[in-house]
Amino acid sequence: MAAVSAEPIEQPLRVAVLAGGRSSEHEVSLASAASVGDGLLARGHRVVWVEVGRDGAWRRDGQELSVTPGGGLLGVDVVFPVLHGPFGEDGTVQGLLETLDVAYVGAGVAASAVCLDKVLFKELMSAVGIAQVDYVGVRAESIARGMEQIPRLGLPVFVKPAHLGSSVGIVKVDDPAELEAALRQAFSYDSLVIVEAMARGVEVECGVLGTRRHEREGGGPLAFASEPGEIVLPGEWYDYKAKYSAGGMELKMPAGISATARERVRELAVETFLASGCEGLARVDFFVEGESVVVNELNTMPGFTPTSVYAKLLDASGVPYPELVERLCTLARERHEARRAYSY
Ligand SMILES: Nc1ncnc2c1ncn2[C@@H]1O[C@H](COP(=O)(O)OP(=O)(O)O)[C@@H](O)[C@H]1O
Ligand SMILES: [Mg+2]
Repeated sequence: MAAVSAEPIEQPLRVAVLAGGRSSEHEVSLASAASVGDGLLARGHRVVWVEVGRDGAWRRDGQELSVTPGGGLLGVDVVFPVLHGPFGEDGTVQGLLETLDVAYVGAGVAASAVCLDKVLFKELMSAVGIAQVDYVGVRAESIARGMEQIPRLGLPVFVKPAHLGSSVGIVKVDDPAELEAALRQAFSYDSLVIVEAMARGVEVECGVLGTRRHEREGGGPLAFASEPGEIVLPGEWYDYKAKYSAGGMELKMPAGISATARERVRELAVETFLASGCEGLARVDFFVEGESVVVNELNTMPGFTPTSVYAKLLDASGVPYPELVERLCTLARERHEARRAYSY
């Protein structure tokens, strides 16, 4: 990847780091957010820690916050919502931040909402012609209609709640007799469930980082794709345990795929990022078998500690962690400024 230029630090920014959140990924978010805070401090910025409780309240130093539409947030220059999953990564918090009229890091309302809905995301990918596995969306109010289409997927299939992450609620079904129980479990998390044909091959992830306006205007790319990394798993698939226990997975860089597949992954990562309207950052996940590359999903706020896959991919591609978090804040400020210039 063309190295991201290490621009001189602008004036020190005051950045509100949103941490925690209402989803089952609360603890993961706290770890990601603490790292983001450290990265910002290392670059000379000031950090305002705002913790979002499991109850949904926002607190600073233990005191509940109240906000005013149009009034910004605690006078900060940028908000960094380091929240994963529903009520954080799904456009809801992004909508609140838009209403407050404050610059914030990452995908906007629509891209966040689409990318956190596994069915909507796949429908968008179909519309733009990006390769993926076959799938069936099943809604709680019309289960029978969805069930009719599932046999065409063959076996095994993966059954997933549409709006969760961290592999929570996902079941791999090998035997048709297990399908009903898998659907029941998925519907206990969500009113929308996706059933997917099983992809073959290895799992490969690619980090995408937005570019600065002057870089794009100077003829540079619309976004950078990192070196792809391969997820090497001890078990059959990337379940919760593999994601969060020590030694649960190994990130192999460079990925053990052909040069053609590597370029295809990087190209598709940027294409997927742009087609879904993402901004700032994303981690795009793929299945690669030989030269065949299919998209699995896009995370608009992937795990964000320095040892998380996204940060490791970017670091290996020439963007150290503190510069990464700083650049994301700069991109957020540029977007906010650009949007203010439009007429409504
Ligand atoms: N269609 C599929 N084919 C093969 N493996 C899959 C498929 N869908 C999911 N998996 C496995 O399950 C993991 C989690 O699925 P994913 O859709 O990425 O959910 P999450 O948003 O929870 O990360 C994947 O990383 C992969 O190991
Ligand atoms: Mg995933």
